[in-house]
Amino acid sequence: MKANDQLDHLKKLRAEARLGGGQKRIDKMHAEGKKTARERIELLLDPGSFEEFDMFKAHRCRDFGMEDKQFPGDGVVTGYGTIDNRFVYVFAQDFTVLGGSLSETFAEKICKIMDLAMKNGAPVIGLNDSGGARIQEGIESLAGYSEIFQRNVMASGVIPQISAIFGPCAGGAVYSPALTDFVTMVKQQSYMFLTGPKVVKSVTHEDVTVEELGGADMHASKSGVSDYAAESGVDALEYIKKLISFMPQNNMEAPPPVPCEDPPDRTAPGLNSFIPDNLNEAYDMKEIILQTVDNRDFLETKANFAPNLITGFARYNGMSVGIVANQPNHLSGVLDIDSSIKGARFVRFCDCFNIPVVTFVDVPGFLPGTAQEYGGVIRNGAKILYAYAEATIPKVTVITRKAYGGAYCVMSSKHLRGDINYAWPTSEIAVMGAKGAVGVLYGREASNQDDAAAYLAEKEKEYQQTVANPYVAAQRGYIDDIIEPACTRARITRALRLIENKRDTNPMKKHGNIPL
Ligand code: HXC
Repeated sequence: MKANDQLDHLKKLRAEARLGGGQKRIDKMHAEGKKTARERIELLLDPGSFEEFDMFKAHRCRDFGMEDKQFPGDGVVTGYGTIDNRFVYVFAQDFTVLGGSLSETFAEKICKIMDLAMKNGAPVIGLNDSGGARIQEGIESLAGYSEIFQRNVMASGVIPQISAIFGPCAGGAVYSPALTDFVTMVKQQSYMFLTGPKVVKSVTHEDVTVEELGGADMHASKSGVSDYAAESGVDALEYIKKLISFMPQNNMEAPPPVPCEDPPDRTAPGLNSFIPDNLNEAYDMKEIILQTVDNRDFLETKANFAPNLITGFARYNGMSVGIVANQPNHLSGVLDIDSSIKGARFVRFCDCFNIPVVTFVDVPGFLPGTAQEYGGVIRNGAKILYAYAEATIPKVTVITRKAYGGAYCVMSSKHLRGDINYAWPTSEIAVMGAKGAVGVLYGREASNQDDAAAYLAEKEKEYQQTVANPYVAAQRGYIDDIIEPACTRARITRALRLIENKRDTNPMKKHGNIPL
């Protein structure tokens, strides 16, 4: 063949490979309102930056007529490109090829880019759309999954790993995303489950729809598997781009600073009267976050899962931070099983990747009751305590109102190596709220009084003045300063500057044993 013919041949092969499972299947995806694997990559990466690997890789299965079912690239598009000029490695599963099912060679392609990402210290983004293990291959496919899982675990804490789910992801297809740092799903389009509704029916006799069993809303609110339920595939990809902008490329780097036009010393006068006079009245902690971060720009993670604890990313004077905050607007901001797990995983992510954590505290304690105790609130609550205690990243804490009991200890207190701990004058730092404390201390005495209610009210006032305020903690040095709420942004920004070069270590060990 002449050189020109060879080039034409290559172009023809490339064009064939780009069609994946064929135009008919591509049209079907479009008709369902979905993008193809290649379109998703184009939307994710900077224009023209994608470099593909293994476009011609072919599976080796010869059973069940598979020798006649060859699709160049074998159902997954892999390679690298840039997002905002920063390198990322990407794989996108192609549902048009045998339902995006994973073969041995499919897995080899993913493993290749994961290995490269690890060697070169860049994030991996997986765009998932797969029917799970390729049934015709059997054990080779299971081996392939296991190779990916092993790499997911080795990469954990070394490079950021992010997953998007775009279609039905079943069986093995859900476990690799579950091992990654963040998962996004698309409403009414993507599903994650071990087995579909039919198998569920045959095993447990439950009637359940795909949406109820593994839809985006379910995983974003009930299971906590997903961090974001996107309105569309494009929305999911935009979320990932924003998410990755807060992260460093790997665990040896700091997150990239961005230019900031929002004055670091900008005051927020409304915060001085933001906390309601009534201690039991709710308020929206998100508003405090928005008023203090750069440009009111806050990217929330797991917004609908355990909303009594807010987690997400923002910046102070252009520096990335992770934010953890109790939300008095939901369950009074109490800590429970789900919020403890949510907070722990988020703090650990930030600690892996050198992202300082700013914690806003208004917490009445841990949620009591049999449901919580039977569910293991002791074991699960210990997770957030463990995460804060082991974290060596810069930690700034602002107590806005209640910091009671164990929850005071947990929420990035001085005693868990909190670096800079501030309190607003409205803070109450105590073993418990005044009412509960007085009930325990003076309940019996009160019953001997003529006017028990008045007696207890008097004792409550006394308790409030003596113990339930920020000054006792400040006298001990557990609080570094009691600050004017309006100046919170300036104080946090300065504190972050002060501790940006902080070095702290944990004892040498293989790894700790977080109460899982
Ligand atoms: C081979 C598969 C496949 C699979 C789908 N296909 N899943 N081929 N292996 N796992 C093929 C179909 O045969 C079909 O081919 C094409 O992909 C599209 O599938 P449809 O069923 O037509 O699409 P849809 O109706 O959208 O349903 C999608 C689906 C369903 C929900 C994913 O296909 C499904 O239930 N698949 C099986 C899921 C599953 O049980 N996986 C678990 C495997 S075990 P044609 O040629 O007809 O278009 C596993 C264990 C790993 O993963 C454990 C590791 C820890």
